[in-house]
Amino acid sequence: MKVLVTGAAGFIGSHVVARLLKEGHEVLGVDNFDIYYPRSQKEKNLIPVLLHPKFKLIDDNLATMALITVLKGTEAIIHLAAQPGVRGSWGSSFHRYVTNNIHVTQRLLEESKSNKLKRFVYASSSSVYGDVGEVLHEEMKIQPKSPYGVTKLAGEHLCQLYNLEYKMPTVSLRFFSVYGPGQRPDMAFHRFCQNILHEAPLTIYGDGKQIRDFTYVDDVVEIITSALTADVVGQVVNVGGGSPATLLEATAILEEISGKTTAKTFLERQKGDVFSTRADTTKLERLFGTKPKTNLREGLVREWEWMKKFVLSEDEEQSIKAAVQPITDVDEAALAESRADGKAHKKASRKAAKAVKGKKKAVLKETSPETTET
Ligand code: NAD
Ligand code: UGA
Repeated sequence: MKVLVTGAAGFIGSHVVARLLKEGHEVLGVDNFDIYYPRSQKEKNLIPVLLHPKFKLIDDNLATMALITVLKGTEAIIHLAAQPGVRGSWGSSFHRYVTNNIHVTQRLLEESKSNKLKRFVYASSSSVYGDVGEVLHEEMKIQPKSPYGVTKLAGEHLCQLYNLEYKMPTVSLRFFSVYGPGQRPDMAFHRFCQNILHEAPLTIYGDGKQIRDFTYVDDVVEIITSALTADVVGQVVNVGGGSPATLLEATAILEEISGKTTAKTFLERQKGDVFSTRADTTKLERLFGTKPKTNLREGLVREWEWMKKFVLSEDEEQSIKAAVQPITDVDEAALAESRADGKAHKKASRKAAKAVKGKKKAVLKETSPETTET
């Protein structure tokens, strides 16, 4: 299938691309490397797939680009591009949420409505629920608690509208706090691992007793890719149920894995943060025949191993940048001397290279099949 993946360079998107290519699909990724977090992390996410012959990447903004070219020949869309982050969605940055989560979703639906798509998979969020109960199921009356949740719910509603009026094959998947290698740097585990590695205290918002149904990224990817063919059109489905735990339980596991106990700074509860998310997976199991399987310890070991390498590479890049001083004062005499040295050095190198080439030719002649006697 020819699949368009929006947000292909992001945390979940890059895993989805890798999985689709492994399954033999042709993938077109679109991502504008939004400045919400560093481009360098997103570029690293794509290293394993960038040279794959069936992968193409377009670096452009879905809010403004001409969509017709990327939609041509597309059979399915996995729409992950968004402005994520629950706590940052208050205040003046809200326009970024409206543009990237609502406007972009509407544009994609509108422009692809006559494409005869096989599937339009929309990345929704457990944030649409708000604090409406301990266990969250799809038929509940919901009340988002953050501006982010409001925009993700608007995206879901748009998918349902286009399904009703244009028979578009949409499905909305509500992901629950996804974690694993490549996790976004604003998310709890990424920040905690980074702080443990830098021996800095962990910052806990509230009392740390909030519960999250942490869901390992490979389990989410499995459901996303199955949604391309499963009988799920018009549905809204929870994708969670991996490992519910309080934040303090999760940090205790991380400390055990890292072998380090770290100081904790307890800060004010953040606006928009819900008390508990726990997915009812009855519908997920019924429609997909599966549910997330990775337990929190296992998943955190993998994220910790990835974070150790990631933090090391980021620290190295920072120290190289700090060590390279811009040249402000040039000693002209020293410069002329080094240029002269350079010329002499180049001449000597060319002479040496010629000599080596001559020798190589001689050796080749001696050992080539034509000249070797059998
Ligand atoms: P991410 O920020 O790592 O990935 C999103 C990508 O979309 C980024 O690479 C960004 O550059 C790109 N993007 C944003 N606006 C764009 C635009 N206008 N044009 C082109 N590209 C654009 O986030 P993620 O954690 O991988 O989340 C992926 C999706 O899953 C989002 O829709 C998010 O709301 C949803 N989701 C994530 C989680 C989670 O725990 N990570 C949970 C629930 C839902
Ligand atoms: C996550 C993603 O960030 C959202 O994009 C996604 O839509 C949402 O999951 C979802 O499932 O709907 P969140 O649950 O807030 O949101 O995930 P984290 O950022 O990992 O935070 C988990 C908990 O840890 C929150 O209560 C948060 O306040 C807390 N936290 C986070 C801290 O105490 N300290 C930190 O440094 C970071």
